[in-house]
Amino acid sequence: MVYTKEHMRSEKNKQLFPKDFLWGASTAAHQVEGGNYNQWSVWELAHAAELAKHAKKTYGWLLNWEDVKPLASQPENYVSGRAVDHYRRYEEDFDTAKSLNLNAFRFSVEWSRLEPECGQWDETEVAHYRQYIQELKARGLEPFLNLWHWTVPVWFAEMGGFAKRRNLHYFERFVRKIAEEYADDIKYVITVNEPNTYVANSYANGKWPPAEGNIVKACWVYLNLISAHKRSYKILKSAKKSLQIGAAPQLGNIQAKRPHNPLDQLSTKLMRYIWNWFFLVATKRQLDFIGFNYYFTDYFTGMFKRQNPGVPLNDMGWYAEPEGLYPILLRTWARFKKPIIITENGIADAQDQYRRWWIEESIVAMERAISEGVDIRGYFHWSLLDNFEWSDGWWPKFGLVAVDREHGMKRTVRPSARWFADRIDKLQS
Ligand code: BGC
Repeated sequence: MVYTKEHMRSEKNKQLFPKDFLWGASTAAHQVEGGNYNQWSVWELAHAAELAKHAKKTYGWLLNWEDVKPLASQPENYVSGRAVDHYRRYEEDFDTAKSLNLNAFRFSVEWSRLEPECGQWDETEVAHYRQYIQELKARGLEPFLNLWHWTVPVWFAEMGGFAKRRNLHYFERFVRKIAEEYADDIKYVITVNEPNTYVANSYANGKWPPAEGNIVKACWVYLNLISAHKRSYKILKSAKKSLQIGAAPQLGNIQAKRPHNPLDQLSTKLMRYIWNWFFLVATKRQLDFIGFNYYFTDYFTGMFKRQNPGVPLNDMGWYAEPEGLYPILLRTWARFKKPIIITENGIADAQDQYRRWWIEESIVAMERAISEGVDIRGYFHWSLLDNFEWSDGWWPKFGLVAVDREHGMKRTVRPSARWFADRIDKLQS
C-alpha cells in the first residue's frame, strides 16, 4: 500500500480523537425556528427600519460591502420572522446533520414558547421539544440542550429580565420544568450561552435589547447570570445526578500586540481575566465540563486597544485566526483541568472560501492540544444552517448548510461541509 502524506497524517492523528468524541453542530432556537415571540422579536420589529437606514454607516467599510448591501439595506433583513423554519423542518435538518457524519447536536429550548404567559405552560410546545429530542436520539445524534440563548419571554423582559435579582426565581421555575420534562432523555445540558457577550451588547454598549448602556447594571446582570447558572446546576443535578452540565461563555485568544511591552501585557492580562475567566472561575464548582465558544483572536496594545492584522477577515470583517483555538485550549486546561467541549466555532463565509480552512485549522489546533494531554471531548461547529445573526440579521452566512429563504427555504450542503464530513469519517474509522 502506498501511503500518501494525507493518509499518514490521518493514520497518526486518528488515534488522537477518542472514539466517542462528539462531532456536532450548534444552533439556537431564535436564530432558526421561526415564529418566535420574545423580547428579541419585539425589538427587531421596532428597529428594523432604522438598522436598514444605517446599513452603509455600519457596514460600508467592509470590503464585501457591495455584496452585503442589497440585503443589509432592507428592513426585512433585521426581522427573524419565519427564520429558516427549523421548527417544522427539524427532522430533515437532523437527517442532513447525520449525513454529514455528525453524532451530536446542540439546540436551545425557547422559554417564550414553553411559558408564553407567566406561570402558564404550553403543553403542545413541551411535547414539541420532547419529540425533537427523540428524533435526535433516533438518528444517533447526542442532544445538547441549551437552556438559554439570549431570548426571554416578553413578560419576563417587562419585569426587568435578568437585571432584577428577584426575577431569577422565574428562571429557576423554568429550569425545574425542563428538568422534570426532559432530564430522563438527555445527558448534557448547557445552562447559559455567552453571558459575557450578552451583558456587553445588551447592557454595556446598548447594541441589543434592552439596549442599555450602563456599566454598573451590566456587572449586576453578569452576577445574576452567574447565580442563574449555579441555581440551574443544583436543580438539574437533583433531578438527575448523572447529567453533565456546563455553560458556553465566549473565550477569546487574547494576546499582547507587543509581547514584551508592560502596558500591552497588563491590558492583555486584565482582558483575559475579565472577558475569559471571570464567569468560569465563579462557577467552576458547578461545571462538569468547560464549554466555550471560540471565534476571536485579539491583539491588545496600550490601554485596551485592539489592534489586529488586516487579513484574513470573515464576511463580517472579523479577524480570523482559527489556530488561536490551540492557545486558548491550553490555557483553559491549565486553569481548570476539567474536560473541555468546544460548544461553538465557525466563520461567516457566504462564498464558502474560508470555511474548510477554518475547520481544518481548528481540527489541527485540537490535535495539538490533545497531543499535549488536554482532555477535549467534543467540537460543535456554528452552525448547521445559515441563520438569523441577531442585530446583523440575515446577510451573514455561518451555515454548513446554505438556506435559500427566497426559494422555499431550500437547503444546500456547502462543499466545506462535505469535506468536514469526510474528515470526521477518516478521524473516526
Ligand atoms: C453566538 C451565536 C452567534 C455566533 C456568531 C455566538 O456569539 O452564540 O448566537 O450567531 O456567535 O456571531
